[in-house]
Amino acid sequence: MHLTLRQLKVFESVARHLNYTRAAEELFLTQPAVSMQVKLLEESLGVALFEQLGKRVHLTEAGREVLGYARAVTQQLDELENVLNRLKGLGGGKLRISVATTANYFIPTLLGTFSRRYPGVTVSLDVTNRESLLQQLSDNTVDLVIMGQPPAELDAEADAFMENPLVIVAPPEHPLANRKKIPLKRLQDEVFLVREPGSGTRIAMERFFAEREMHVKTGMEVGSNEAIKQSVQAGLGLGLLSRATIEQELTLKRLVVLDVAEFPIMRHWYIVHRSGKRLSTVAQAFKTFMLKEARALIDGKTPSPSSSKRRRH
Ligand code: PGA
Repeated sequence: MHLTLRQLKVFESVARHLNYTRAAEELFLTQPAVSMQVKLLEESLGVALFEQLGKRVHLTEAGREVLGYARAVTQQLDELENVLNRLKGLGGGKLRISVATTANYFIPTLLGTFSRRYPGVTVSLDVTNRESLLQQLSDNTVDLVIMGQPPAELDAEADAFMENPLVIVAPPEHPLANRKKIPLKRLQDEVFLVREPGSGTRIAMERFFAEREMHVKTGMEVGSNEAIKQSVQAGLGLGLLSRATIEQELTLKRLVVLDVAEFPIMRHWYIVHRSGKRLSTVAQAFKTFMLKEARALIDGKTPSPSSSKRRRH
């Protein structure tokens, strides 16, 4: 067998995405280069790893076997890199973090501060939905994840580092815009725009109304916070969004927050990793940075030494 680590890495990426184009984007390669690496690996192993049925790519049985070994090899190498980084200190190293789409409204600022403090560190940031974050934790392909609710599905360590209030937004000309203390039940007369299934915000919204046995009318299903804001401004309905997503619109007076009883819904942001994961020096430094400083940096306040801690099993 004459396979290379590069071929295994490319194969792992294609197998994870089941898509050559996305693997090529992730690895900064062209699609033909990705196909070539997979072909060379197949030739050297003497088996087909993928099959294409219609437009979809599937792993063959041999492909699934090889994937297990490819992951074990890459994880061992990552661990070796982590151990060496630890020996070398924080001069270099790579931080792989993935964040929920809503968290991307504040994460770049924090990464900026962290990167200036540790200029040798390379950061790989993925912004994706909750379902995919859970998959990455489960596959152990990420160091740290930022999400709005700790995963109940797997053994993970989750620390809260900042509040995440969810508010109801409306266009400034909405009849409820200047009302004080709007009763919760009044919302049943309104139509809400909702995020896609799998969004943490949507799950929180559904749980909140279900717990109160309320049925709110849902209008369009919209796949991003940005699109929800645009649709609310266009008068298509109300939105229930994380406060972090609407700073600009509030400043520009394009949206208002409604004063509704029991709102905001107070959630938290969590920094999460698999229990027992051996964090690299860099990942450990980032976690400490988030727990100690994130909130203060975002709020422009002094750091508070305490942060609520929570573990999930
Ligand atoms: P989102 O936010 O999935 O709705 O973007 C993350 C969360 O609140 O869990």
